[in-house]
Amino acid sequence: MKEIFVKDLRKDQEITTFFMAKNPAIKIGANGKQYLDITLADKTGEVSGKKWDVGDSEYNALAALYNKQIVKIKGLVVEWAGQLQIRVQRIRAAAESDEQQMRDFVKAAPEEPEEMYRYIHQAAESMRDQDLRALCLKVLDDNRERLMYYPAAQKNHHAELGGLLYHTKRMLMTGERVCEVYTNLDRDLVAAGVILHDIEKLNEIESESDGIATGYSFEGQMLGHIIQGVKTIDRLTAELGFPREKAIMLEHMILAHHYEPEFGSPKKPLFPEAEVLHYLDILDARMFDMQAALDATEPGEFSDRVWTLDNRRLYKPQTADKDGK
Ligand SMILES: [Fe+2]
Ligand SMILES: [Fe+2]
Repeated sequence: MKEIFVKDLRKDQEITTFFMAKNPAIKIGANGKQYLDITLADKTGEVSGKKWDVGDSEYNALAALYNKQIVKIKGLVVEWAGQLQIRVQRIRAAAESDEQQMRDFVKAAPEEPEEMYRYIHQAAESMRDQDLRALCLKVLDDNRERLMYYPAAQKNHHAELGGLLYHTKRMLMTGERVCEVYTNLDRDLVAAGVILHDIEKLNEIESESDGIATGYSFEGQMLGHIIQGVKTIDRLTAELGFPREKAIMLEHMILAHHYEPEFGSPKKPLFPEAEVLHYLDILDARMFDMQAALDATEPGEFSDRVWTLDNRRLYKPQTADKDGK
């Protein structure tokens, strides 16, 4: 069983535990000797590992390590350039008898995908606008399988198993509350915007069923999920016979949800539901990034710099328990 997690590592600690190996590579150090450079990951984070002075006798075994393999490590936690690092003494591939559970190694949203999907599906079913209802249900049903595991990003916010569902669900929950306060808003339009705004991340990001993004697709690289989304909504609304105004408004919401041209939106929101969509999106991303930074911070201390939050260092109050609540 895995007992030590990345977030609990402390300097000078001696550890023996399992990690998921990422990008293992044998490199040549400044002293001309070979060393193993590896990232060691679990569901709580990643830490760099080095095994110095790789001799000929162990070269073959180390060179055979592959990406996402579960490995057992014996080593010492050291600090290098202000970051924790593991000086690996021994490393071997985990045997089947080690009985590791994948969910210890892969970051996953804290709720069950089925539950999150049901919540979102329910929100679509309860729409009064029959056009938006039909469109959202179609998109959800057609993409059900991949939604069950897709992350919402390659790095940063919601880069985890089920992350896209979690992001969508929390935005829907907040959106419902916002519509109770600002009663001029069209609830169905807000909810449809939320459900559809990032749906083309399914075709922008490439991910395996463990929710780990492996890169961007060709279309993702060339167009991005905003333009891919506008194209898809344009096609589907035509197929479903949407009134023109409604189709264009929905496309505009997708187009404007990143707000700034430098973040991929060529236009700023031009009506309230589009404005709200942006703030629901940014709120959920910020809350996620803040929570992640504080999870890795001791009470009474500041976090590391978070570049998605303008390099701010966040403060965790002394009264917080270890989970940051
Ligand atoms: Fe987006
Ligand atoms: Fe989003």
